[in-house]
Amino acid sequence: MRIAVIGAGLAGRQHIEVIKRNKTCKLDFIVDPSDESIEFCRKNDFSHFPNIAKALATREPDGAIIATPNSLHLEHALDFIDREIPILVEKPLSSNFESALSIVQYAKKKNVDLLTGHHRRHNKIITKAKNTIDSGQLGRLVSSHSMCWLFKPDDYFNSWRNSVSGGPVLINLTHDIDLMRYLIGEIESVHSFESNTNRKGEVEDSAVVNLRYENGTIGTLSISDTIVAPWSWENTSGENPVYPNQKESCYWIGGTHGSLELPQLKSWESLNERSWWKPIYSNQSPTDKSINQPLSAQLDNFISVVQGKEEPVCSGKDGLKTLLVVEAIKLSARIGKAVEPKKIQS
Ligand SMILES: NC(=O)c1ccc[n+]([C@@H]2O[C@H](COP(=O)([O-])OP(=O)(O)OC[C@H]3O[C@@H](n4cnc5c(N)ncnc54)[C@H](O)[C@@H]3O)[C@@H](O)[C@H]2O)c1
Repeated sequence: MRIAVIGAGLAGRQHIEVIKRNKTCKLDFIVDPSDESIEFCRKNDFSHFPNIAKALATREPDGAIIATPNSLHLEHALDFIDREIPILVEKPLSSNFESALSIVQYAKKKNVDLLTGHHRRHNKIITKAKNTIDSGQLGRLVSSHSMCWLFKPDDYFNSWRNSVSGGPVLINLTHDIDLMRYLIGEIESVHSFESNTNRKGEVEDSAVVNLRYENGTIGTLSISDTIVAPWSWENTSGENPVYPNQKESCYWIGGTHGSLELPQLKSWESLNERSWWKPIYSNQSPTDKSINQPLSAQLDNFISVVQGKEEPVCSGKDGLKTLLVVEAIKLSARIGKAVEPKKIQS
């Protein structure tokens, strides 16, 4: 299979690495107008095009990974769907609900495979956690807490990220929300507060969210890109070599018969009787922290979907539903009230 990568920035170059190591596909070409990407392709002997129209005039890849800035996902996704070429679009699926819906609807109309790049779903730690939760080991789920506290240096914001689509809720929290939806269930209602007190930029630097899931579980999410701390998936999962790894957890999921902390994969249960006066014990499963494992597994899933062998682990509709929760969080922070994410037709 020949896979094209559109946008050879931070995310695109990781996809390129993973494609290079995959045995069933090869890199077809790269599209990116920047001088850096021209130089990058020249050095690595990759085919390069400055825009999608020029590339598709002569090439027909079996699939494309779109890793351009969020505000361009719509235009770029439609270009490929138009040509009936399957796509994996980086998260968030698009920068707002309407444009993401257009991508999903057009892909459905043209019967083109569409996947969203919430790659954490493919992490083996998450697969084990999902099996533990689905097995009923934790009992009825009661509450979840998700932390994403990290510190982004000033130069990170010298680009498109210094705009409305560059805040940590859309960039980082979107991953945590998607995982909570995947592990626990659909989110019925959110109530949030945002702050930009520290960076004083156009977008939030911190947010807290209360959640109610449709199955009755309640939860909290806390995010900031201006706190020096170890408790984020980025800094604890070890899946991406650019983030120094800390042996801490960042998600806690609790049920009537036990609880689970991730990514440490540590589960807690009563020895005999459930009581705060009786001992509880923990069991830690070994974790696979191999670099880029989730991105490789995501690529394998993309290839299998295109070959008709598997369903997407994270479809376009999943990306859309996660985005709906993000939009509800933003709206709730603006109006100061609880908000129910919009529902979409199946
Ligand atoms: N899954 C993840 O963990 C993860 C991590 C980082 C970024 N992302 C997502 O990946 C996407 C890209 O983010 P990034 O951090 O790599 O940004 P980036 O700015 O590093 O890279 C974007 C690239 O797109 C190129 N580009 C701009 N306009 C283009 C066009 N018209 N056609 C082709 N290429 C064009 C830019 O030149 C740049 O090289 C975003 O959607 C982001 O949210 C996902």
